[in-house]
Amino acid sequence: MRLFIDSANVEQIRHLNEYYPIAGVTTNPSIIVKENRPYLELFRDIREVIGNEKELFIQVIGDTAEEMIEEAKYILHELPGNSVVKIPVTEEGLKAIKLLSAQNVPILATTIYTPLQALMAALAGAKYVAPYVNRIDNLTGNGVKVVAEIAQLFSTYQLPTEIIAASFKNVQQVHDVCLSGSQTVTVGPDLIEKFIAFPATPADVSVFKKEWQKTYGTDKTNLIQS
Ligand code: E4P
Repeated sequence: MRLFIDSANVEQIRHLNEYYPIAGVTTNPSIIVKENRPYLELFRDIREVIGNEKELFIQVIGDTAEEMIEEAKYILHELPGNSVVKIPVTEEGLKAIKLLSAQNVPILATTIYTPLQALMAALAGAKYVAPYVNRIDNLTGNGVKVVAEIAQLFSTYQLPTEIIAASFKNVQQVHDVCLSGSQTVTVGPDLIEKFIAFPATPADVSVFKKEWQKTYGTDKTNLIQS
């Protein structure tokens, strides 16, 4: 199980990368434009925060396979570190996934709504697939069920492609896909912080401290004895 940050906000990435077990950062064009900055400079700043080992996912915007392939090569040439190219599962995208994967370029097949889209991308050689859980739910589908079926297909056909479930609007969706066979999730900063937000925890911690200080003195704020 790995956790990615679905954001391009450098300060939020810096904070989460310091405090949480973060494997890398995923972006898409909508996430990038929110930062309203030159995008290569933005990618380089994110890279500086997460280091060269963690994966940084960058999505192409071209319409044809040829454009997508050129963009993929440009991204890999311009950016240092471990980059993964995101390509949508359109017909042109599938062609680009096939050709780039054959050249060992790591690809995340994105914008996935159905198990068969994921299966096609995996057969084409994609390293990752990203089913869009909340967007599927919004179309009166069942995002968690789609993830579970993709996991079942990959297991049946022994495909090495990893599922990175994406598009979440609440913690319950993340919880459910983790139990449904998604090896990995990518989640926005606000939701990641909610993973551990449970009011009883800080309340208990506060009681522990008060009891401790009743016995050992209010100046004792930690276990280190002077
Ligand atoms: C992954 O990077 C996807 O692009 C992203 O999770 C989509 O999320 P949204 O449906 O919240 O826009």
